[in-house]
Amino acid sequence: MQKLNELYRGKAKTVFTTENPEYLILQFRDDTSAFDGERIEQLARKGMVNNKFNYFIMEKLAAAGIPTQMEKLLSDNECLVKKLAMIPVECVVRNLAAGSLVRRLGVEEGLELNPPTFELFLKNDALHDPMVNESHAIAFGWATAEQLAEMKRLTLAVNNVLKPLFAAGGMLLVDYKLEFGVFNGEIVLGDEFSPDGCRLWDIATRTKLDKDRFRQGLGGVVEAYEEVGKRLGMQFD
Ligand code: TMP
Ligand code: ASP
Repeated sequence: MQKLNELYRGKAKTVFTTENPEYLILQFRDDTSAFDGERIEQLARKGMVNNKFNYFIMEKLAAAGIPTQMEKLLSDNECLVKKLAMIPVECVVRNLAAGSLVRRLGVEEGLELNPPTFELFLKNDALHDPMVNESHAIAFGWATAEQLAEMKRLTLAVNNVLKPLFAAGGMLLVDYKLEFGVFNGEIVLGDEFSPDGCRLWDIATRTKLDKDRFRQGLGGVVEAYEEVGKRLGMQFD
């Protein structure tokens, strides 16, 4: 399927229409952003690595019964997906404390969270993705109570698939963010799952293998993403 028109340009991906109104093409760029788009840099190979990474993870999730928008890998930087009506609320699950939870509650990074926490954030860079709750989402019409319940169920189900997958590669899935949309009335996982939107630490050394390397200026960002992929059995060349 061919790209038709640019529909939307995000911080790291561009979305194109296709001849079929039910399908879109996601193009993964090398742009890497942090702090709600305040810092953007080009990191060579990142688009290709995240596109293949995302495809691999989405296939694992689909095999475990999670509905995803993924249709097929088209090229190094592109995949074909179902067109969803996206819900502007980000779902975050945390197995260990890090990032904004540490800043907000003053707990120690790495504190184990059992059971895992579930949080919602409004997708809005200008407002710095503020934390919201279900009543906000319902009152402002971002999602219905039923849709939110399904988003929570699926986000926690993803943890049961991915925590053991990363553990088998010697990694801790610290936290992750998912975005959902609606396709034919059904809640479906959209956007991407890559080290841009989750935290992964080496189990033994707790070395950071995710976008915190970029946020914290640690270097070796794409190298770390590739290492994660290789530990899971992905091939990038
Ligand atoms: P946080 O600690 O900044 O709240 O982020 C939790 C996890 O969700 C972390 O892996 C990063 C991811 N995330 C995004 O990728 N984009 C976002 O806009 C938000 C709010 C979180
Ligand atoms: N929301 C992503 C992050 O936390 C990207 C961005 O903020 O620009 O890094």
